[in-house]
Amino acid sequence: MKREIYIFNDREELANRLVADFNKAIQEKASAGEPIFFALSGGSTPRLFFEKLTKPPYLEGISWKDVNLFWGDERCVPPDDSESNYKMANDAFISRIDIPEENVHRIIGENPPEFEAYRYADEIQNNLSSKNGFPQFDWIYLGMGTDGHTASLFPNAPTLAENKEICVVAEHPQTGQKRISLTLPVINNAKRVSFLVAGEEKAPVLKDILENESTPLPYPASKVYPEDGVLEWYVDKAAASGL
Ligand code: 6PG
Repeated sequence: MKREIYIFNDREELANRLVADFNKAIQEKASAGEPIFFALSGGSTPRLFFEKLTKPPYLEGISWKDVNLFWGDERCVPPDDSESNYKMANDAFISRIDIPEENVHRIIGENPPEFEAYRYADEIQNNLSSKNGFPQFDWIYLGMGTDGHTASLFPNAPTLAENKEICVVAEHPQTGQKRISLTLPVINNAKRVSFLVAGEEKAPVLKDILENESTPLPYPASKVYPEDGVLEWYVDKAAASGL
């Protein structure tokens, strides 16, 4: 596994680099005549990145016809709920670009969670090629909570041990909110996994993870290890202040 750490002055600079890298990845696959499969992260950090996709030069510059958008996790709420990761992305860019509807693979948060975990896993398997027995995303984006959770894989949760399924039903430890999340085997099977981490409040856990790469840590984010791929940390100076 190749690990890269990019430290930016602020969220704006982080988003600018990310949108350029996103566009580059799409162009590279398009020139090879291949579709590209992303899994977007939730939370608030990606919003600025998403919004920049609707601004010049990207609004006209990206050919969306072979771009497939999935999510790494979703809250079990309807798509118009303020908690919905899909709603955030749809408001920020999806509703403003000409991406084919069938290329947007939202997790159906309003479905019964157990049913949706299987349905979404089927949708992933039906669209992506497999490697090592799991579907392989081209690029998975992840956020990180102040407790070191990522996607909806929370510390000490049984979902961390899931090594067969593609998706699991998770539960937020404080609110009890049901979530659907990709499992670690799927995340670690991706060609490229990028954490987007910004803000002072993330600094202690980020330091712990980046400075203890070979030490077992209690943080789910520390268990992201795309063996045959690239792991990147796009972080701002505030989150990197402990390094
Ligand atoms: C979610 C996310 C979660 C998020 C982190 C960071 O559904 O909440 O997938 O893993 O990425 O909690 O969230 P912020 O970007 O809001 O700090």
